[in-house]
Amino acid sequence: MHELAIYGVPVQWKRRQVDIPKPGPDEVLIKVVATGLNPKDWKFVKRRDESGALNAGDDIAGVVESVGSNVYEYKAGDRVAAFHRMGHPAGAYAEYAIAPATTTFPLPPNISFEAGAGLPLSSMTAAIALYQALGLPLPTTAGKKDIPLLVYGGATAVGAYALQLAKLSGVGPIITVAGSGIDFVKSLNAADHIIDYRKGNVTQAILAALDGKPLHHALDAVSSNRSHRPISEVLSASGGGEINMLDPPEDEDGWTFPKSVKYSRTLVASAYYQKHADISQRQAEADGEFAFWFYRYISHLLAKGSFKPHPHAVLPGGLDGIAGGVQSLYDGKVSAKKLVAR
Ligand SMILES: NC(=O)c1ccc[n+]([C@@H]2O[C@H](COP(=O)([O-])OP(=O)(O)OC[C@H]3O[C@@H](n4cnc5c(N)ncnc54)[C@H](OP(=O)(O)O)[C@@H]3O)[C@@H](O)[C@H]2O)c1
Repeated sequence: MHELAIYGVPVQWKRRQVDIPKPGPDEVLIKVVATGLNPKDWKFVKRRDESGALNAGDDIAGVVESVGSNVYEYKAGDRVAAFHRMGHPAGAYAEYAIAPATTTFPLPPNISFEAGAGLPLSSMTAAIALYQALGLPLPTTAGKKDIPLLVYGGATAVGAYALQLAKLSGVGPIITVAGSGIDFVKSLNAADHIIDYRKGNVTQAILAALDGKPLHHALDAVSSNRSHRPISEVLSASGGGEINMLDPPEDEDGWTFPKSVKYSRTLVASAYYQKHADISQRQAEADGEFAFWFYRYISHLLAKGSFKPHPHAVLPGGLDGIAGGVQSLYDGKVSAKKLVAR
């Protein structure tokens, strides 16, 4: 089969002829119909040369080809979406890819493969951040819901999924920050207040939206360009709270979080039970169990129409169009949509 491997920035690529991979006992082999691109694709390869070229695709939508000996949920011919293990062989920039059965989920008939390809990595990042890291109530939990939430970056794929989930959970008020993706964020009908970062003074605008209510929970779905600073200022002004970030803060001035602000980080690898520097082994195991059932719950929400895939644009040229798409992500040229390759 063909796979596409990328390396370096500017993003370079080569097609390679490789064997169709074989699923392990707990894995699923999927014939890829569409794959979604993620900013991590360039982050993983930016320092690599040709010798380290990687099939960096992790978002799979396609049809089950075969399953490992322990897999009981899926059979050949099933429509699925799946999250591939990041950095491992048999990624989604190929004709066939492998994913753990636990991070594979049914793709309901009302969701196209192209739309489904934008779901696995970013929707689970949003879910782990909100529920496992920030400890917000699940859509299935009754009880206290008047919990103000800030989702910084409502037009990012992760932020938009977080807005949809937070709305389903019933927490609020929900405040978000966006720029050119603002009309899309409005169309989600999830946030109570949408702040336009292009107008400046984001901290004051968030405080005004809170109207005296304290903010204790924030997801930083941008996690770059010092996005953590206004968030920390608001949490601090509220007496303290937790900021969950997706990348560690980059702050060259020796800036540190105020004492009242707790930093935590989501890395979606914990969806397949992988520990990382900011969580314990126990948390990684809990996240893996959570991801198993929450992926299946996402299928249910998609089928009902109460959770929608991020808007997508199909890249021209199949595998050969992927490197150009990854470069556009690196250049920050993609607003409020997932780039997808067939
Ligand atoms: N740790 C993990 O496991 C994990 C998982 C997924 C993603 N991530 C990281 O999380 C970030 C988001 O990923 P993604 O795939 O969701 O991104 P994405 O969809 O590609 O994000 C694009 C959006 O970023 C928004 N944006 C850029 N700068 C902004 C700012 N200063 N304030 C508000 N919005 C801003 C833009 O909004 P406008 O169009 O409105 O300007 C744009 O629409 C990336 O850094 C990614 O690497 C980490």
